[in-house]
Amino acid sequence: PFGLLGEVDAHFRAYLSQKCINGKCLSENSLSRSSSSGSIATDEGLYKQQEPLVQNSVMLRILQRRSLQLREKQQDWQESPEGQKMLEFRRSLPAYKEREALLKAVSQNQVVVVSGETGCGKTTQLPQYILESEIEAARGAACSIICTQPRRISAMSVSERVAAERGEKLGESVCTARGMKGRDTRLLFCTTGILLRRLLVDRSLKGVTHVIVDEIHERGMNEDFLLIVLKDLLPRRPDLRLILMSATLNAELFSSYFGGAPMLHIPGFTYPVREHFLEHILEMTGYRLTSYNQIDDYGQEQKWKMQKQAQTLRKRKSHIVSAVEDALEAADFREYSYQTRESLSCWNPDAIGFNLIEHVLCHIVKKERPGAVLVFMTGWDDINSLKDQLQAHPLLGDPSKVLLLACHGSMSSSEQRLIFDRPEDGVRKIVLATNMAETSITINDVVFVVDCGKAKETSYDALNNTPCLLPSWISKASSRQRRGRAGRVQSGECYHLYPRCVYDAFADYQLPELLRTPLQSLCLQIKSLQLGSISEFLSSALQPPEPLSVKNAVEYLQIIGALDENENLTVLGRNLSMLPVEPKLGKMLILGSIFNCLDPVMTVVAGLSVRDPFLMPFDKKDLAESAKAQFSARDYSDHLALARAYDGWKDAERHQAGYEYCWKNFLSAQTLKAIDSLRRQFFFLLKDTGLVNSSEENCNKWSHDEHLVRAVICAGLFPGICSVVNKEKSISLKTMEDGPVLLYSNSVNARVPKIPYPWLVFNEKVKVNSVFLRDSTGVSDSVLLLFGGNISRGGLDGHLKLLGGYVEFFMKPAMANMYLSLKQEMDELIQQK
Ligand code: CDP
Ligand code: MG
Repeated sequence: PFGLLGEVDAHFRAYLSQKCINGKCLSENSLSRSSSSGSIATDEGLYKQQEPLVQNSVMLRILQRRSLQLREKQQDWQESPEGQKMLEFRRSLPAYKEREALLKAVSQNQVVVVSGETGCGKTTQLPQYILESEIEAARGAACSIICTQPRRISAMSVSERVAAERGEKLGESVCTARGMKGRDTRLLFCTTGILLRRLLVDRSLKGVTHVIVDEIHERGMNEDFLLIVLKDLLPRRPDLRLILMSATLNAELFSSYFGGAPMLHIPGFTYPVREHFLEHILEMTGYRLTSYNQIDDYGQEQKWKMQKQAQTLRKRKSHIVSAVEDALEAADFREYSYQTRESLSCWNPDAIGFNLIEHVLCHIVKKERPGAVLVFMTGWDDINSLKDQLQAHPLLGDPSKVLLLACHGSMSSSEQRLIFDRPEDGVRKIVLATNMAETSITINDVVFVVDCGKAKETSYDALNNTPCLLPSWISKASSRQRRGRAGRVQSGECYHLYPRCVYDAFADYQLPELLRTPLQSLCLQIKSLQLGSISEFLSSALQPPEPLSVKNAVEYLQIIGALDENENLTVLGRNLSMLPVEPKLGKMLILGSIFNCLDPVMTVVAGLSVRDPFLMPFDKKDLAESAKAQFSARDYSDHLALARAYDGWKDAERHQAGYEYCWKNFLSAQTLKAIDSLRRQFFFLLKDTGLVNSSEENCNKWSHDEHLVRAVICAGLFPGICSVVNKEKSISLKTMEDGPVLLYSNSVNARVPKIPYPWLVFNEKVKVNSVFLRDSTGVSDSVLLLFGGNISRGGLDGHLKLLGGYVEFFMKPAMANMYLSLKQEMDELIQQK
C-alpha cells in the first residue's frame, strides 16, 4: 500500500504532463511537497531536483551551498559516537574492502556489474558509497541515485536501514511514502515498477545521475524490461551511470548484454552449513512417511485431489518421480534402513506435508542448540495455515518459548521488524517465509534452515494461453541460496525436505519471469512508453520470450479493446496503462466509474489485486465455507460476496465491532484493511486522472443495482468465461480452451445444486491436473453479449462476430438466436445511419 501511494503519485504526474501536452500547463512547483531534511526516500520523491540543474549562476550557488551543508552534516554524524559505532559495523562488511575499486569502476565506466554473497553489503552499502563520495566531493546536491528493488517490502526495509546508518530519519515516519520526499533527497529506494512508471513521464530520467538495479539474478519481468529500456537510454545519456547488482554468479550474462561491462565480485564469508536431505532426516528423526501422511493435513478435499494426482503422477512419470524411483532402485540396503527405504517410497513429491515440516521443527526445538529457524514455504496461504496449525496444536512445547513469525510480501511493518529482532534468551524464533527470504531479506541470527524445495511460481502455458500458479521445484541455485541463509553468524544446519536425488534433478537456474508469465501488462507498458513494435522491442531482451506468448498478449489486448488492429494504443489502452492494476481490472474500474457503480467495483478490484479475504482454516473448512456462502444469497457470485463481506465489515467497524465480525465470518481483518486502503487509492487515482469527476455519491448512484455490477464484472473478466450446463446431479462447466473445468471448493458456486446462469465469468484459472476456476460470477446471455469483449473496436458488429465464435462453440441455440437478432438490429441501425 505504501508504494501504491507512490504509484498514485506517478499517475498524478503522468496526468499533469498530459495536461501540459494539451496546452493547459501546470507549474512543476505545484508538485512540491513539504520538505524534510532526509537524503533518502522510498518513493519517487526527486522531482524537484530533476529540473535542469544548472540553469543560472544563482542556481549554481544554491547547489554549491547545499552540497557543502550536506558534507558538513555527513561529517558531523560520522564523528559522533553513534556514527562511529555505525561506521565500525559498516566497515566490517565484506563490501567495504571493495569500496575504492567500486567507486573507480563506476567513475570510469557507464555500466558496472557487481556480484557477491547475500549479506555482504551490496544493497545497503554500495548506493551509500556512491552517495558519500559525491557528498565528500561537494557534489552532493547535484547527484540523484535511484536504487530499484524487486519488492516493495525490501525497498522499505532497506531505506529504513540506510537512513539509520546515516543517522537520519526516513521522512517523518517510516510508513508514509509521501512524507519522505525531502529537499535534500539524493538516494531513492523504490520498486522496479515505480521506476518504470516514472519513465512513462520522464523518458530520459532527467537529473538522475546513477541508476542501481538490484537483485537482477532473480530475472523478474520488470527488471528484464527495465534493462531493455535502460540499454536503449544509455547512449542518449552518456553521463548516466548504471550499476547492476546480483547475488549469484551469473554476472557474465549481464555483462555481455551491456557490451562486456566490467564485473566486480565481492568475496563473501559464510560459516559452513551442514546439509541434510530427506533420507537422512528420516533416519535421524525416526519419522515415518505413510502413503497419505502428507495428504491428510491438506484436508479432505485436497486428499481427493492428491489421490487423483498420485495416480496421474505415476502415469506421467515426471523427471522427479523417475529420479526418486531410480535412486530407490539403486539404493544400497546397508545405506538406508529398511524403514527409511519403505518410507521414502511413499514420499509424494507433489505434496510436502505440514506434518513433515512440523516434525522437523519439533526436532530442532527439542534437540538442537539455540538459534533462529527459517522455514522456506511456497506461499502466503501455506504459511498462514501452518502458522495456525502450529498455534492450535502446541507440539513445539511451551508456546511462550516459541516466537512464530510469518515473512511474506504483504506482512505489516511491525511484523517485519520482529523478524529482524533477536528474541529474548530461551525463546526460539521460527520464521515461516516465502522465497523472498532467499536473497532480499537477511535475518542475521538464523542457524537452521528448513527448505521444502518448492516455490510458488507463475508459469505460463502459451499453447493453452493459461497462466498457472503452482508450487514448483526450485533450482539448484535457489537451494544453495536457501542453505546459505543458515551460516550467517555461526555454522548452521539445513534440512532439505526432499531426497538428494531430487536435488540432482533440479534445473541449474530458474527460468526468467519474462519467459513464464503472460505479457499483457508489459505489452501495454511498451506501447505507452512508445517503444515501437512490441515484438521487435521484446526481441532485444536478455532472453526474449516466445513469439506465441507475445502474440497471445497482443491479441488479448485487442480483444479487450486496449490496442487497435495496428497495435496502437486506444483511448481505453492509454487509460489502462495509467492504472496500477492488471488491464482487465483497470477496465472494470473504468467501467465502474462510467456506469456509476464504483463502490462494489472498487472492492472487487481491490480484492482481486490484494488477495481473498475469506479465510479457509484447514480444520474448519466447512464452517468457513458456509460463512462465505451467506454473503452470496442468490447471487451465484464470489465477487459480489466479497463486496458484501467488505460492506458488512465497514459497518461493523463503525460500531467498533470489526474484529468480532471478521472472527464470526472467517474473514481476514488485515486483508480487509489492505482492500480498504487500496480502494481509497483507486478513488483518488480515478479522480486525479479525470476518470471520475463527480461526487462520491454520484459515482454510486447505481451501486445497489446488482445486475449492472455483474455486467461490469463481466466486461472486465471477459474472455474469462465458461459455459454452465446443469445436469441432474452435477453441473458441467466448460471453457473454450480447456474443455471441462472445475471450481475451487471455496467458491460459492461450488456449493449450489444448480447455477441458474448460462455462463460464469472468472478472474483466474489454475492448472493443477484439471483446470480449476478460483472465483466466478454467473452472467446471463444478454449481459455477455452486451458487455463481453470490446465494444469500441469495429463497432458492435465486430464485437458480435467475436462473440459469435463463442456462441457457436458452446452451441447455445437461445443465445445464438439472440445474437442473430441483435446483429440484425444492429445491421439495420447501421444501414439507417
Ligand atoms: O545486499 P546484500 O545481500 O549484499 O546485503 P545487505 O542487504 O546490504 O546487508 C548487509 C548487512 O547489513 C547484513 O549482513 C546485515 O548485517 C545488515 N542489515 C541489517 O542489519 N538490517 C537490515 N535491515 C539490512 C541489513
Ligand atoms: Mg541485497
